[in-house]
Amino acid sequence: MEHDLIIRGGTVVDGSGGPRRAADLAVGGGRIAAVGDLGGAAAREEIDAAGLVVAPGFIDAHTHDDQAVFADPAMTPKVSQGVTTVIAGNCGLSLAPRSYPGVGAPPSALLGTPAEYRFPTVAGYRAALEESPAALNLALLVGHSTLRIDAMDNDIDRPATAAEIAAMADKLDESLAAGAIGLSTGLAYPVAKAAPTDEVVALAQRLPAHGGIYTTHMRDEGAAVLDSIAETAEIGRRSGARVVISHHKCAGEANWGRSVETLAAIEAARETLELDFDVYPYTASSTVLLPDWAPQARRILVTWSDPHPEMAGRELAAIAADWGCDRDAAIRRLMPAGAIYFTIDEGDLRRILAHRRAMVGSDGIPGDRHPHPRLWGTFPRVLGRYVREAELLTLEEAVFRMTGLTAQVFGLAGRGVLAPGNHADLTLFDPATVLDEADFDHPKRPARGIHSVWVAGQAVWRDSTATGARPGRFLARGEGRG
Ligand code: ZN
Ligand code: CU
Repeated sequence: MEHDLIIRGGTVVDGSGGPRRAADLAVGGGRIAAVGDLGGAAAREEIDAAGLVVAPGFIDAHTHDDQAVFADPAMTPKVSQGVTTVIAGNCGLSLAPRSYPGVGAPPSALLGTPAEYRFPTVAGYRAALEESPAALNLALLVGHSTLRIDAMDNDIDRPATAAEIAAMADKLDESLAAGAIGLSTGLAYPVAKAAPTDEVVALAQRLPAHGGIYTTHMRDEGAAVLDSIAETAEIGRRSGARVVISHHKCAGEANWGRSVETLAAIEAARETLELDFDVYPYTASSTVLLPDWAPQARRILVTWSDPHPEMAGRELAAIAADWGCDRDAAIRRLMPAGAIYFTIDEGDLRRILAHRRAMVGSDGIPGDRHPHPRLWGTFPRVLGRYVREAELLTLEEAVFRMTGLTAQVFGLAGRGVLAPGNHADLTLFDPATVLDEADFDHPKRPARGIHSVWVAGQAVWRDSTATGARPGRFLARGEGRG
């Protein structure tokens, strides 16, 4: 029998968390055909993987790629890292479903312009992506803030009324039926801040019937982070939905070291609840520039500014000095704008990243002019700096938390583990050299050591270049192996 592709002589790290082994891997018809000693088999294409690791394509647990898959279907920032699937629609923001034509409250601009919010339904979003696929797969969460803007006509500084909640819940039901995998919130943001816990519970209660998941950028990641974990667990318990805490961190110097407490609280909640979290491997966060968040940060870098695009990549303090004003005044002149906030302790980051349930998610913001380097560097950074150099976790464990665990948590059937019959989403990398090259000064550099990447058996990254192939799919919830 002739396969499409055989990757020979590599070290297979299969995404289950189990030990690496020397094995060949064969692909046929977009699926994994066999894993083992394939000395007797032939293929149209053979790759010598001596010294390289064969792993499942990485699943980016936390992205804002809803619009990027249309704007840049090659998805170079992600496939260059070995990513083959992204979870989009995070932090309460999704490109669909939205009909509101105006400028939504912050941080709506993080995802796109009003014209880019062009999908009144998830079914329409899905059809557009199926019509014009990207290099990688995408699964979509429905954003609570997106629902709010529509249902409340962007009048969002108050709790939603019962009628508005009912309208949002119906939209959510319709979206889940069209293939969305769950609901996300961003309760820290102006657009959703005024939503009480009960509003979120009423929506999350629609999730279990569809097997949907609840993900959350919590109300507070600083002084009140424990209250936020309690609120998140309450939403999980009262709704019956599975929960993911997004980009877990302890923000602000006054809270450094508190990941000891937060991880203990998460462990305690896990006794009665399916609750997991994702994390990015950096000590700076990034989102819209807002005066409220500036005091938490030692240093702030501007990532984009509508009135002052020339300030992208510069330090807020330097801009304020140039302008002869204080930081607050400078922020107001730069807005609407985006920023990188240096607010996280390396010790907390390591403690969180080392946790056995920590999924890796980039939280990259693809539209930013001078983005946070996590957009291009997250996965190779974990493999290079935290696995190889710091030995914070084993290679098998890291790959599991980039693949098998994430597929399990988000219900992505037939992905995340190298096993016959599963989709041939694969990453081939050099464990001795893999490393992020993007940094805060040069955020758009592709990583080193990612040899080749396949989606459904088609190469999307090879010889340090995107191939232009676009085999990606919209991954609908509960789709099975079809
Ligand atoms: Zn967020
Ligand atoms: Cu996010």
